Amino acid sequence: MKRVVVLISGGGRNLQALLDAGADGRLDAQIVAVISNRDGVQGLERARRAGVAALALPHVDFPSREAFDAALAEAIEAQRPDIVVMAGFMRVVGAAFVRRFQGRMLNIHPSLLPRHPGLKTHQKVLEAGEREHGATVHFVTEELDGGPLIIQGQFSVMPQDSAESLAERVMQDIELKIYPQAVAWLARGDVELVDGGVRFGGRPLSAPLGMDHLEAQFR
Ligand code: GRF
Repeated sequence: MKRVVVLISGGGRNLQALLDAGADGRLDAQIVAVISNRDGVQGLERARRAGVAALALPHVDFPSREAFDAALAEAIEAQRPDIVVMAGFMRVVGAAFVRRFQGRMLNIHPSLLPRHPGLKTHQKVLEAGEREHGATVHFVTEELDGGPLIIQGQFSVMPQDSAESLAERVMQDIELKIYPQAVAWLARGDVELVDGGVRFGGRPLSAPLGMDHLEAQFR
């Protein structure tokens, strides 16, 4: 079984979806530890309830960004991970950290990347008057929210939508489905990062996969 470490900062709804998928056998992988850069968050409770090692590594305890990155990398490596999953992890990590895990580290971002990297994506979609919105799972590279795209889910923005209603729909209808699917693909070797591009079933992807590629168990 592939060993997975999940990085969080808060609520852990994506983490919960991954824990559930791990528990019911939909992931050919085992979540061996959850690490948060903030203590006392619900995501750590979710890990404990699932019997998974839950570790707080508060970034505020470190004198520099580099020192935190190094400590985090050590804490991750101690778990002998095959895969690292950022799930609501709200820290920007440095190039040295990324290089240690590149090709086996994923992130989920609540926008249709490459549109709207960074924060406040739901607000930006409304302000831009865009008619579609969604979420994306990508490999983590040195470019923030800029790594090669694996899977993307989208829906139509409704006139009455607010940033809150969009955030809820992105989470419930898309994130909680595409993330377990993406981790399952990576664990099985169906998805790979090769020469800076994503291969699915050995074939280079020219665009991210869509919700139509979701296996029944993740719909
Ligand atoms: C999610 O929308 C995720 O895409 C973004 O931050 C939010 C975290 O949610 N990075 P949770 O911690 O998984 O509940």
